[in-house]
Amino acid sequence: MNKQIKSFIAQDKVQGCYYITQKSMLMDKNSKPYLSFNLNDKTGAINARVWDNAEELSKEFDSGDVVHIKGHVQSYQNKLQFVIHQLRPAENNEYDMRLLVKSADRSSSEYMDELLRMVADITDDNIKQLVTNVLNDKEVQERLLKYPAARSIHHAYFGGLIEHMVGISKTLKYLSEIHKHLNYDYLIFGAIFHDIGKLWELSIENGINYTTAGRLVGHIQIGCELVDKFSQKILGFPDKLRYELKHIILSHHGKYEYGSPKRPKFLEAMVVAMVDELDSKINTATQAMLSEVQDGNEWSSFQKNFDRYLYLDIFAKKQNED
Ligand SMILES: [Fe+2]
Ligand SMILES: [Fe+2]
Repeated sequence: MNKQIKSFIAQDKVQGCYYITQKSMLMDKNSKPYLSFNLNDKTGAINARVWDNAEELSKEFDSGDVVHIKGHVQSYQNKLQFVIHQLRPAENNEYDMRLLVKSADRSSSEYMDELLRMVADITDDNIKQLVTNVLNDKEVQERLLKYPAARSIHHAYFGGLIEHMVGISKTLKYLSEIHKHLNYDYLIFGAIFHDIGKLWELSIENGINYTTAGRLVGHIQIGCELVDKFSQKILGFPDKLRYELKHIILSHHGKYEYGSPKRPKFLEAMVVAMVDELDSKINTATQAMLSEVQDGNEWSSFQKNFDRYLYLDIFAKKQNED
């Protein structure tokens, strides 16, 4: 039985299986490479370091994998850190994924109910039919209730994808009330479909990893195929509408350099891309602060995703109030 990360104290000797996120190769003051990554279980996360043979060991595993480690906990600059002595990929029968990856705060079925209520307000029959048929599909539903939205950055926990969809839908709904000329139907479609391809891009069997379909084709293309497959079954579904909807998926990463094959060419597509970025950045920063706030420091460690240190005091105060 793994020792839970939240009960780690300095000098603990630990061995067991943990889930890896945020792996990166860094350089120390003497330009010697070392490995830094987070060990996770559902109770928390701890930063781990490998000082010797870092390059060699780095080839053995990646973010999203589960590894078996031996090592000890130390206190460094008032923070707990894990020093790895041994590390190897874990065997499938050595761990239970449900104990290693945390879940969204609310249950996925509550999120699903909230999503369906927003879908009920769609007025265009074709869009409503398409969205409803996809959400009622057995395979989609089974996956959606447990899938994360990413391997290691934002919403990287069970139920993270549906939480991300609901978060974006609510923001978009609100924006459509302020900016009345925005088309609510296209926005809600975008909230639900922009990342839906992740249900086949990622596998959650052993760690959170990319599938072959994910590596070769990716969630943007998979999402478009889903629109083709389900819209073909709706009698008289207009071709033009199909292209418009697929454009929202194809352009949601916003820029060519972020892997977007198209840039958003109408307002709803632009707003979906912007709100997607907003929601994922808020979640990424929140997760980073959550994993550090209990150490009582004023500033976080350096956050590569944001290229800066984050100030923790305001967040800590709010945490204490709640
Ligand atoms: Fe995406
Ligand atoms: Fe997204």
